[in-house]
Amino acid sequence: MTALTLSTSGAAALRADAIVVGVAKGAGSKSGDLVVAPGAEAVDKAFDGKLASVLETLGATGGEGEVTKLPAPSGFKSPVVLAVGLGKALEKDDAYSAESLRRAAGVAARALSGAKKAGFALPVEAVEDAAAVAEGALLGAYAFTAYQGGEKDGNGAKQPLAEVTVLGGKPRDKAFKAAAERALALTEEINRARDLVNTPPNDLYPESFAAVAAAAGKEHGLKVQVLDEKSLTKGGYGGILGVGQGSEHGPRLVKLAYTHPKAEKTLAFVGKGITYDSGGISLKPAGHNETMKCDMAGAAAVFAAVVTAARLGLKVNVTGWLALAENMPSGSATRPGDVLRMYSGKTVEVLNTDAEGRLVLADALTRASEERPDAIVDVATLTGAMVLALGNRTFGVMGNDESFRTAIHEIAEEAGEQSWPMPMPVELRKGMDSATADIANMGERMGGGLVAGLFLQEFVGEDIAWAHLDIAGPAYNDGGPFGYTPKGGTGSAIRTLVSLAERTAAGDLG
Ligand code: BES
Ligand code: MN
Ligand code: ZN
Repeated sequence: MTALTLSTSGAAALRADAIVVGVAKGAGSKSGDLVVAPGAEAVDKAFDGKLASVLETLGATGGEGEVTKLPAPSGFKSPVVLAVGLGKALEKDDAYSAESLRRAAGVAARALSGAKKAGFALPVEAVEDAAAVAEGALLGAYAFTAYQGGEKDGNGAKQPLAEVTVLGGKPRDKAFKAAAERALALTEEINRARDLVNTPPNDLYPESFAAVAAAAGKEHGLKVQVLDEKSLTKGGYGGILGVGQGSEHGPRLVKLAYTHPKAEKTLAFVGKGITYDSGGISLKPAGHNETMKCDMAGAAAVFAAVVTAARLGLKVNVTGWLALAENMPSGSATRPGDVLRMYSGKTVEVLNTDAEGRLVLADALTRASEERPDAIVDVATLTGAMVLALGNRTFGVMGNDESFRTAIHEIAEEAGEQSWPMPMPVELRKGMDSATADIANMGERMGGGLVAGLFLQEFVGEDIAWAHLDIAGPAYNDGGPFGYTPKGGTGSAIRTLVSLAERTAAGDLG
C-alpha cells in the first residue's frame, strides 16, 4: 500500500525519485502558451524562470492527461521533474477544481509506477486541494498484480508508486492532518474494493467474499453476520437462493453493522454481489461474459464504504448488506418460467435468469427495510441498458424520493463521481405483470434500466427514502487507464457513499 506524507519542505530539498508539477494551456491574449501552475514556483526559479519554455520545447501543451519528464535542475535532491497537464489554465483568482487536481495527480502517480517516492508540487492552497491531490495520487498508485509473475520473470507488472508526499500540505495543522487521514483510509478501501472486483471468480465466490468481509469487519470493530444457505432457506430468502442454486458455490447474505454511540441517523447500504454472472440458463453469449466477475462491484462498494465509515469514526450508524451469489447454469439452476417466493412474501416469475441482480437485491432491500433505517441506498451493476443510456463513466440514480435522489447526484459530483438522475415512469410497471406470479423479473426492453428500478422499488419498505445507483457503466474499465482510474475495477460509488455518510453524520441531510 502506498504511504502518504504531507510536507512543508521546498521542492529542491525533498529527497524523492521525482517532483510533480502542474502545467496548463494558457488562456486569453497568450492563448496557446504553456503556463506553469502555482506550487511549482521553486522549480521554475531553478530553471531561471524558463520551465514553461523548456517544456514547450519538449512538446508539452498542458493538456489533461499529458506527462512530460525532464531532469531536475542542479541543486535538487530528486533527479526528475514530471510535468502533468491540468488542462485549460485558469483566469485570475480562480482555483483549479478538486477533480482536475485529483485527475492530474492520478496521471502523475500512474506515470511513476515502479518509483519509490514522489513529491507533488501541485496547486495546493486550501486543505481541500491537499486532499484532492492526495486522493488522486493514491488512487492512481494502484496496480492489480496478484496473478502476475514478479518483475524478474519479465512479464511482471511494475509495482505502484510507494510513497506520495504532498508539498504545501501542513503536517502539523489539524485540518490538514485529518484530511490526509481521510484520504488514506478512503483510498485504501477503494483500492481494496478494486482488488475484490479484479479477483477472478474462481477465487472470489460468495463464501470467500463473505470471509474477507467478516475478517475486515472484525478488524474494524463492525458487527458481522453471515447467512449461509441453511439460514437463507430457514429465513425464506427465495430471491438470493433462486439465483445461487445453480452454482457449486452457495449464496450468502452478509450484514456489516457500524454503530456510533452518539449517532442520530442510520443509513443502510445494499450491494449487488454476483461474483460471476454467466446469465444462468438464459446464458450470455460469448463476448458478454468475459468481464462478468465485475458483477459484485456494488457489494464491494458497500463493503468499502462501511469499513471507511468505521475507520473515520463517523457519527452515524451504517449497515451494509452484501447480497452474494454466483449465477450459473446447471441441472439445479432456476429455469426461465420458475416462480420464486421472495423474502417479502411476494412471488416472482423468472422470465430471464440473466435479470438476477434485482432478485438478490429485492431480498436484501426487504431485509434492510425491516430495520427501519432513515435511508437506503443500493448499488448495483444492474443493467446493460444503463450503460447504453449513460456510457461508461456515469452511473444512473433512481429512487422513491426526489430530493434524496437529487442530493445523491450532487454529493457524487462533489466527490468527483459522474452520475445522472433517472426517472422511474410508472407506465413501465405493467410490462412486468405476470400471468402466474405477483410480478415478473423482466419487462419492456426499452428503458430497461428504469424497469429494473421499478422492480426494486416494490421491495423497499413504506416511507423509507431509497436511492438506487446503477453502476453497470463505470464499475469496470475495459479500456485503457485515465486520470486516477485504472483498467479493471474502479471502485465506483464508494466516494459517493462515504460522502453521504459524512453529510448525514454532520446533520446536513434532513
Ligand atoms: N450484470 C448484468 C448487467 C451488466 C451489463 C453489468 C454490462 C455490467 C456490464 C445484469 O445482470 C444483466 O444481465 N442484465 C440484463 C437484464 C435483462 C435480461 C433484463 C441486461 O441488462 O441485459
Ligand atoms: Mn445478469
Ligand atoms: Zn448481473
